[in-house]
Amino acid sequence: MLIAFEGIDGSGKTTQAKKLKEYLESKGKKVSLYREPGGTQVGEIIRKIIIENHLDERTEILLFEASRSRLFEEKIIKELNKGKIIILDRFILSTLAYQGYGKGVDINFIENLNRFATRGITADVYILIDVPVDLALKRKSEKTRFEDKSFLERVRKGYLELSKRYKNVHVIDGTKSEDEVFSEVLRALSGILRI
Ligand code: TYD
Repeated sequence: MLIAFEGIDGSGKTTQAKKLKEYLESKGKKVSLYREPGGTQVGEIIRKIIIENHLDERTEILLFEASRSRLFEEKIIKELNKGKIIILDRFILSTLAYQGYGKGVDINFIENLNRFATRGITADVYILIDVPVDLALKRKSEKTRFEDKSFLERVRKGYLELSKRYKNVHVIDGTKSEDEVFSEVLRALSGILRI
């Protein structure tokens, strides 16, 4: 079972992903939580390269996909085969929303790269935590280069379009309290996890 959390920076998805891991473990489930980019030794080095350099979008997209490929090869495929629940803090919709809708890279090309890196594996459920860009920016204390307002507006719009194009995307209003959002997350997963 693969559950992916998606949303713009400051949406609160990382908090919710961690909460879900703790909740499922308290129910006796075996759970792994990985972040993208990252999640493996090589992936964390790639993450550092992306964060510390101002790269063009072609180089950057290949690095995001390289990190993803390594994560699938090293961890996810084996763990899915063992019946583990995998929670991802960002997944393929991030690349489509940020590099595709945000930076104008061809969507079909990204979809091919995503299939290549994941060996065709997709998430069983995508949880898209949606918040207005102004709120997201207010929540983030430190500014990063990703936090340009008009860029994030395009990314947010992209995510909402993707939620209609892709199957199994649950859009959750992230403006509510942490606990209220978490209740919505559990509701979205109730059918698939029987929790
Ligand atoms: P993340 O650590 O999730 O940032 P945050 O905690 O602020 O949400 O992700 C790092 C940045 O990488 C984030 O700004 C989104 C970006 N990103 C992409 O542009 N494309 C991708 O494919 C992925 C996985 C992340």
